Amino acid sequence: MTASAKDIVARAVEVLKENDHGAYTIPTKGLYPFQWNWDSCLTALGLAHYDEARAWTEIETLFAHQWPDGMVPHIVFHVWSDGYFPGPEVWRTGRPTATSGITQPAVAGFAVRRLFDRATDKVLAAERARALLPKIDAWHRWFYENRDPRGEGLVAIIHPWESGRDNSIDWDDAFERVPTEGVEPYTRRDILHADPAHRPTQAQYDRYLWLVQHFRGLGWDNARLHDASPFQVVDPGFNAILIRASADLADLAEELGETEIARANRARAKKGLAAMERLWSEAHGQYLCLDRITGKLVDGASVGGILPVFSAIPEARAAAIAASVERLAGKARHIVPSHDPDDPRFDAKRYWRGPVWLVVNYMIADGLLAAGHAEVARRITHSSLDLITESGFAEYYDPLTGEPLGGGRFTWTAAMVIEFLRGV
Ligand code: DGY
Repeated sequence: MTASAKDIVARAVEVLKENDHGAYTIPTKGLYPFQWNWDSCLTALGLAHYDEARAWTEIETLFAHQWPDGMVPHIVFHVWSDGYFPGPEVWRTGRPTATSGITQPAVAGFAVRRLFDRATDKVLAAERARALLPKIDAWHRWFYENRDPRGEGLVAIIHPWESGRDNSIDWDDAFERVPTEGVEPYTRRDILHADPAHRPTQAQYDRYLWLVQHFRGLGWDNARLHDASPFQVVDPGFNAILIRASADLADLAEELGETEIARANRARAKKGLAAMERLWSEAHGQYLCLDRITGKLVDGASVGGILPVFSAIPEARAAAIAASVERLAGKARHIVPSHDPDDPRFDAKRYWRGPVWLVVNYMIADGLLAAGHAEVARRITHSSLDLITESGFAEYYDPLTGEPLGGGRFTWTAAMVIEFLRGV
């Protein structure tokens, strides 16, 4: 590693340490004062760089709050804080430690396998991984039982927050079906910490809240929520992460002699990959979201349709996605923008409607490299590192100017930088 790379890693470690609360890490001070699900799992990869045991603890803390039905919530409210909305008093999920009532992308299986593969202390890693295996398996089972009730092989999200891509253009049409009548009065806290022009709109927040109240009214009973939700979208990126995590969990389970877990996860990945074909768009050279209520594909090129390269999609699909990323590189100074800049709805600064996110870059680059597209993967890595050098550890970045956006000193951005620097 060069001296400047070492310096960047040292600065990234400082960010991780600042946001470390002992057994879990918060995404950033102020804006996100609790533990977030996929933030934590990806952060564990950065923690492992200097403390392997601490990295395992990060994921174990999250899974200590898994619901009895198998769901792993998107937020665990470990401590009280009035800096975030909606807090536990809105979710009212009735869990021993307050949590939200929805989930997030299932990166845990991927992260755990990566931690295990790289572990220098294999005895410790085998012990910690073995304890997590059945829990992650139960979460995967939960997904297919509750979010794929007709056994199609693909799961739906029932709230935009589940995708992690909160205000993506992908949800605009489906969101028209979500009413706003009866939303209890509330005060947003996010816009106290971040520029409102970089965040979702008020109209979107009203709908986020309507869905939360609706699900709360159904007692957070996951057997009922999917069919009762006016918002059911099959996101190819979300599914690809679950498929990759299932395949990784299967490999790990095999290595640890857990054959039943290996078999079940292998079958989920296989069925998911076959079903994903339905989401392919030749015109866009990438996958598209499917609105499960209308049965129609959502016309728009978002990063959700590029992320499937993180899973073992057919070679021709991976090649088309590599070409799409190269096309995007001709339209934006920094890749990979969360939406195609040619789309009139693209917004370079507004959260998931255009900005670049390093976690997404990491997964896309990882998949492209595995599929033999090393040059495109390298371009993504370099673009990501340029952003850090120019603009620091931001939550996300303007793809046209590189301007840092959203929260600052962001944990998973720092973790991803450590990961990117391993490969250069
Ligand atoms: C937020 O509050 O912005 C989160 O993305 C929801 O998890």
